[in-house]
Amino acid sequence: MDYRKIIIDSIQSNLYDKQVLSELIAAPKDAGMGDFCIPCFKLAKEMRKSPAVIAEELASAVKTGGILEEVKAVAGFVNFRFDKARFAQQVLNDAIQAGENYGKNDEGKGKTVCIDYSSVNIAKPFHMGHLLNTALGGAIYRIYKALGYEVVGINHLGDWGTQFGKLIVAYKRWGDREDIEKRGVRGLVDIYVKFHKEEETCPELSDEARSWFKAIEDGNEEALELFEYFKRITLKEVSRIYDRLHISFDSYAGESFYNDKMQPVLDELSDKGLLETSNGAKVVKFQDDTMPPCLLQRSDGATLYATRDMAAAFYRKKTYDFDKCLYVVAYQQNLHFQQIFKVLEMMGCQWHKDMIHVAHGMVSLESGSMSTRGGNVVFLEDVLNTAVAKAKAVIEEKNPMLEGKELIAEQVGVGAVLFGVLYNSRIKDMVFSFDKVLNFEGETGPYVQYTYARCNSLFEKCGDIGEEIDYSGLDNEECRAIVGLIEKYPEIIKESAKKYEPSVVTRYVVDLSQAFNKFYFEHKVKGEAEGIKNARLLLTKATGQVVASALSLLGIETPQKM
Ligand code: ARG
Repeated sequence: MDYRKIIIDSIQSNLYDKQVLSELIAAPKDAGMGDFCIPCFKLAKEMRKSPAVIAEELASAVKTGGILEEVKAVAGFVNFRFDKARFAQQVLNDAIQAGENYGKNDEGKGKTVCIDYSSVNIAKPFHMGHLLNTALGGAIYRIYKALGYEVVGINHLGDWGTQFGKLIVAYKRWGDREDIEKRGVRGLVDIYVKFHKEEETCPELSDEARSWFKAIEDGNEEALELFEYFKRITLKEVSRIYDRLHISFDSYAGESFYNDKMQPVLDELSDKGLLETSNGAKVVKFQDDTMPPCLLQRSDGATLYATRDMAAAFYRKKTYDFDKCLYVVAYQQNLHFQQIFKVLEMMGCQWHKDMIHVAHGMVSLESGSMSTRGGNVVFLEDVLNTAVAKAKAVIEEKNPMLEGKELIAEQVGVGAVLFGVLYNSRIKDMVFSFDKVLNFEGETGPYVQYTYARCNSLFEKCGDIGEEIDYSGLDNEECRAIVGLIEKYPEIIKESAKKYEPSVVTRYVVDLSQAFNKFYFEHKVKGEAEGIKNARLLLTKATGQVVASALSLLGIETPQKM
């Protein structure tokens, strides 16, 4: 049912652009005001009338009838009210009938979106900094899938650079294969940290590292073998984490993949007269120096991060013919992406406008900052393990007889971490706190998961939904608020996709959970007359289904019991 269309069709006036009106339709802040409203404030300027006058005009042009029961102008808003019982009946039945597919659509059919996310660095720890990035990318991936897009998840591995020369030196001097097999990236990080300490008193180590890196570039067998070994160790560890976060990728083409794909780009830039030489290096300069030049080749011939991203952009366009290519990367790299996108524009690539840097903030732990070189690193795996242990402790305290509590603790602990970092708008920096994300009473993953389990428990208490349904059982403020929220879910998915903002979903599912819990505490289900009980069970079923669906978009599981 398209309720927005019903509203627009009811307005018998051509004074206002129906498309504009349609975009203004919203849910009233206070559910008591109606089911939908049109705020008239944005129209005031163009129409040269006050919002109150516009609202009056619009309201008097509305023809009620059918499901649309009442319209009222109040302080610059036009409020629409539907026949309560019919509205509830339609919304809930639509949702339940569509099942898992409720809220999804096919607006993206035939379109491809590439998402570059997580993009971890080989032989470096998967630390807290990658968490938000990975969580965001995974959520945006699923959200676009839900809208019918063909989505390509790309892990642009950081698998190139002089640090691999250093690592080879470190490994040959101090590496212990057995230890590295056992401790994985931690073992690699330890010798890498040692390299930097030793380098201070033993500068020839730097030269050695440089020549080993050169050996990798030249395809020396021993060097390549070690390089691949470091990569294998890292990916093994990283995939363990991806599994726990329910993340997967369609491509692991990282920086080294572009080794042989950069020269054609440099040539084209040079043919187009865009490549300039500056102190022996090759750069692209921007008009009026709006940005610092984009460095694409060092004077010793070495290519850079930006060169690889240029090659990757062309490769992706050619391979996937994307409609959009998203880069989920921290805002520290704002300038880098502005430069890349601008260079593409200067090269005449129309598709430069389809390149989007989905920037995000930093996550730090309460205990402070981190750096790989200094060895002061918080491994994400430890964070997940701590969260799971804490979730387990809560379960042991509150519900020690719970069946399958190991698995549930994993779902709650990991879910809490994901939900916690996806709760704020992505651009904000955040300080991660275990107590906050695991608070069962806060705006958290566990709170929402608990609401889902509560929906299930109502069915355990009351049995299935019977035949006789009396929708007047939903005629109260609490139930109406839930119906309104459930109706909004498809719009929520669209909005979060449009803004590349999973927090739209996170916030929504908290609102829905709060609305449900309010209903749960203020109204009975069991013990009510049969028809009323059934109507409320229907509401419960639709709520549980939407909560589970929203959480699954965020990569979070929903245990049946908690
Ligand atoms: N590996 C990089 C980092 O950890 C992120 C790569 C992002 N993607 C890209 N195409 N530049 O900072």
